Amino acid sequence: MSMQGVAGEDRIELNKDESKSVRLRSRRLLRSLIRPIRSRLAVSFTLVVISQAARAIGPAMIAFAIDRALPEAIHQNLTPLFLVVAAYLGAALTAATLTYAFLKFAARTNQNVLFDLRQRLFVHAQRLSLEFHETYTSGRVIARQTSDLDAIKELLDTGGNEMIAGALYMVFTSVALYALDPSSFVVLLFSLVPLGFLTRWFQRNTKLRYRETRVASARLIVKFVETMTGIRAVKAFRKEKANDVEYAQLTEDYRKVNAKVIQLFGIYDPGLTMIGTVTVAVILLFGGFRVIDGQLGIGILTAAILYARRFFDPMEDMATFYNAYQSATSALEKISGVLEVLESVPEPQHPVKLEQPAGHLNFKDVEFHYSNGKTVLPGFNLDIPAGQTIALVGTTGAGKSTLAKLVSRLYDPSAGQLTLDGVDLRDLSNLELRKAIVMVTQEAYLFSGTVADNIALGKPDATSAEIRAAAKAVGVHEFIMSMPQGYDTDVNKRGGRVSAGQRQLISFARAFIADPAVLILDEATASLDIPSERLVQHALQTLLDGRTSIIIAHRLSTVSIADRVLVMELGQIIEDDTPAALISGTGKFSRMHAAWRASLV
Ligand SMILES: Nc1ncnc2c1ncn2[C@@H]1O[C@H](COP(=O)(O)OP(=O)(O)O)[C@@H](O)[C@H]1O
Ligand SMILES: [Mg+2]
Repeated sequence: MSMQGVAGEDRIELNKDESKSVRLRSRRLLRSLIRPIRSRLAVSFTLVVISQAARAIGPAMIAFAIDRALPEAIHQNLTPLFLVVAAYLGAALTAATLTYAFLKFAARTNQNVLFDLRQRLFVHAQRLSLEFHETYTSGRVIARQTSDLDAIKELLDTGGNEMIAGALYMVFTSVALYALDPSSFVVLLFSLVPLGFLTRWFQRNTKLRYRETRVASARLIVKFVETMTGIRAVKAFRKEKANDVEYAQLTEDYRKVNAKVIQLFGIYDPGLTMIGTVTVAVILLFGGFRVIDGQLGIGILTAAILYARRFFDPMEDMATFYNAYQSATSALEKISGVLEVLESVPEPQHPVKLEQPAGHLNFKDVEFHYSNGKTVLPGFNLDIPAGQTIALVGTTGAGKSTLAKLVSRLYDPSAGQLTLDGVDLRDLSNLELRKAIVMVTQEAYLFSGTVADNIALGKPDATSAEIRAAAKAVGVHEFIMSMPQGYDTDVNKRGGRVSAGQRQLISFARAFIADPAVLILDEATASLDIPSERLVQHALQTLLDGRTSIIIAHRLSTVSIADRVLVMELGQIIEDDTPAALISGTGKFSRMHAAWRASLV
């Protein structure tokens, strides 16, 4: 499935074909979740049927006890009374034990389903290509993994079990009532009319209100997250007061919609009780007359009253279940959307093996456009011999990062071919590709863990000597030693805080230890401060030594260490020569360079 399939998810109105395909994919997911637990579900269902039947048989036994066993007991025969009391207790015990077994069993099954889904979502979302993550915002991925899974969890944890048990209980109760006293059953049938109206009203309103609470809570979360992630800008522009006011308003909205939900229960609950009471009263009155006429046993009447009373017990759960069911369904639809997105840069079925990559890159008639259709690289040819150091310069938006993303195969060319040592990048296994080509970006992300762990990311089996050697090579060893626990300092703990520049140096060490044939630095020196320029130059030279490298840099001083400069404009390479030749020429680069020189003095 293409990206459009997911893009449809946040729209309210889907056309007929779209909503059909959404339903189908959601059903496919459900089937795949249920398939492995089919036999467990069958066991669960058997348990719940028997337990609810056992629960519903109690009043019938009481009827028997009053109408048959008591008269016998009065005539000195106590056996039937003892038998029926024993049976009554036995049924209750069976119901309790089986309900326990069912809930325990169902809980385990449900947790397995959730585990499966959670795992699948993470594995899949992580594997999806960068293209997915650049269009599908991280907030939405997080929502799939949190609130959507929670909706399903809620349904499975409580709603589902209670719903099935409750529905069965109501069915058994009415069957038993019908068998004992059809007239009382008719009264119960009439009570279904107001019950239906009240429940319909409740469902319709809670559905609306629940949606409002979800919207209100989402707004609250967005505001909170935005404020905290943008805290520097908030402080810089003294936005605190305005934020306080806005946040207070959002909290107030949230409080109001929640209060409205509670009010609905305040009407529904007493409404249910009223209907139940009136039903019992009518059965009592009508049955009382029949008892007086001798048409009905007192025991049967007692049982009928008990049945009528208990019939309404599961109603509230059932009514709220409907809401849980609806939000779980829509959550499943969204999750299934993510799970069906395919990787846009799939791993080859039969990868070509590269013995010892040399690092020769070749672009043959490469064209590229993002999924929005806008052409970024209109087509070009470029050959980068193994071991060459390239400086790629050009104005913002020229397409430099896009070119870097193609070389590191975060995207595939829309047309043409990109080869490493003559092998199309699409024919290399992920493992080989990641070993041969490494890209360091400005972001220089450090994961929670120690500094050593973060460097070893480039080579998971690295020894601590290798880690130190890498840090020394890029000139970050002294800094690391100055931290409280040296290489064992946790980067997320106090004292482990590193500046953006230090982070970049650590990410250089990470790249150094990976020792790739091709290294790409996309503005990876941007945060390094000028005073350490000489250090940076030295670190870079060590890092680039003996491999093909592409450096994208704002700072033109880094260009001097390049063998060759490429100037890019509107996705095309407009100048391509040695730094010296370009500086002494009359092209764009010589103008950029002159301007830069002028800015230094
Ligand atoms: N993920 C994306 N989806 C759509 N367009 C993009 C994406 N990333 C970059 N672009 C567009 O591609 C063009 C080149 O961007 P980029 O390669 O990042 O330029 P540079 O790194 O030279 O500043 C820009 O016009 C930018 O808007
Ligand atoms: Mg860029």
